[in-house]
Amino acid sequence: MNRKYRKTIIAGNWKMNMKPSDVKPFAEAVKAIVPRAKWCETVICAPYVDLPAALKYLREAHISVGAENLSEHPKGAYTGEVAADMLVDLGVKYVIIGHSERRQYFGETDITVNKKVHAALEAGLQPIVCVGESLEQRELGVTEELVTLQVKTALADVSPKQVRKIVIAYEPIWAIGTGKTATAEQANEVCRAIRTVIRGLYGARVARAITIQYGGSMNEKNAYELLSQPDIDGGLIGGASLVPEKFAAIIEAANQE
Ligand code: 13P
Repeated sequence: MNRKYRKTIIAGNWKMNMKPSDVKPFAEAVKAIVPRAKWCETVICAPYVDLPAALKYLREAHISVGAENLSEHPKGAYTGEVAADMLVDLGVKYVIIGHSERRQYFGETDITVNKKVHAALEAGLQPIVCVGESLEQRELGVTEELVTLQVKTALADVSPKQVRKIVIAYEPIWAIGTGKTATAEQANEVCRAIRTVIRGLYGARVARAITIQYGGSMNEKNAYELLSQPDIDGGLIGGASLVPEKFAAIIEAANQE
């Protein structure tokens, strides 16, 4: 983290795990343990149907709300899809784009990610753009090239002013839901490489200010070490964001002096 130059953001990604009726008890439990996140912004990204309850109860616990996906189209005949301005109308602030599960199971490509980034920015949503390599790609030694391509494509035609609204989440696929975390050094190395890509595209000032999260089996035990790294500005947390005590402990880790 480097709080002097950029915001630390601890974001939960609930995936397809919590029902609307689960939101209030979760929010109350977190609020009771963490009175107010002082040094970091806290976010929960929730399934669409949970968003009204999330906006009501999580905000009372000083937690911002994000969606887990959005349509690349602004409106029209796309049965089952949800547009960016619908999320904005509800009061949603963030949206996860290009999570590896969407790439793997729903055929999203870097180009789709770029279209969704533009859809989100045009409506005023803040994208959390996910990038990361598979185990095979890591073993082939192509992690940095791959992540560079993902970042460059995601940000194609994004202006220097718009890019200030973007959060990048580095999530190595082999570390998601597996209990295997990247070591703090491995995670920092890729986050630093992403910052270098941003510097090349937008200059040093933008690169210094962009929030880059790590995601992949981050939990209450390893959060402190990961967040102590200079280029890791927060976390995108799956499993541990479902348990109030664990999520609160990660927020505490981000509040370290
Ligand atoms: P886990 O924390 O469960 O590994 O999930 C990480 C993730 O995919 C967050 O988007």
